[in-house]
Amino acid sequence: MKQIYIHPLPVRIWHWVNAIGFIVLIATGLQIRYLDLAQILPFKIAVDIHNWIGFVLMANYFLWLGFYMFTDKITVYLPELNAQKYFADSWRQIKFYGYEIFLGKVNPHQPTIYHKFNPLQIMMYQIIMLLFVPIQFISGLLLWDVKQFAFLVDLFGGVRIVDTIHVLMFIVFSGFLIMHLYLITLGHTRTAHIKAMITGYEEVDEGGKH
Ligand code: HEM
Repeated sequence: MKQIYIHPLPVRIWHWVNAIGFIVLIATGLQIRYLDLAQILPFKIAVDIHNWIGFVLMANYFLWLGFYMFTDKITVYLPELNAQKYFADSWRQIKFYGYEIFLGKVNPHQPTIYHKFNPLQIMMYQIIMLLFVPIQFISGLLLWDVKQFAFLVDLFGGVRIVDTIHVLMFIVFSGFLIMHLYLITLGHTRTAHIKAMITGYEEVDEGGKH
């Protein structure tokens, strides 16, 4: 086994601040929306925590974005340009997650420093980070002060629409989190990917396989 450094420090700091923040946002968001179900926190405190953590995560987002924009590690997010190869690799990965993994086969994607993600991870993480997270931040910001942002709120169709988008994204993130928590246990040991996101180092064998 050899160790390769795949998660640089800024990515790890961003990731764990983001993960903890998201869990707090989901919990306080549920409290704000479903006050009648169980009141664990007073409404005003839940709103204040939700707003503060929201702003912390918005700032934190730029640590992730800035790191990838201004370093050569952006390659980890660049998909294969040959469309045929991209779809073939994606299909290979789907087959692996779908059934080959249950037959004990080796993951067809072997991470390297500049290509740590398989094609499905690239697609999923790009959709989450470049589409869903910004939509959630912008809709949250508009709901934070609907008066100040009245012009933009109206542009998007009114408070009800903006609020519905925010709640739909909450559902998407809750689903993503369940899937994410399952997929991160599929390293060469149950905890290998989690350890890598803590230490930065992923274990691969000398031949490049997990
Ligand atoms: C308790 C919650 C979470 C845990 C334990 C966790 C764990 C992990 C682990 C182990 C990895 C590395 C595996 C890989 O590279 O695919 C990872 C990567 C990643 N996670 Fe999470 N995660 C959590 C929550 C989240 C949340 C809430 C988001 C976004 C909304 C998120 C977004 C990402 C992204 C974008 C990456 C790739 C980061 C990069 O290298 O650029 N994670 N996560």
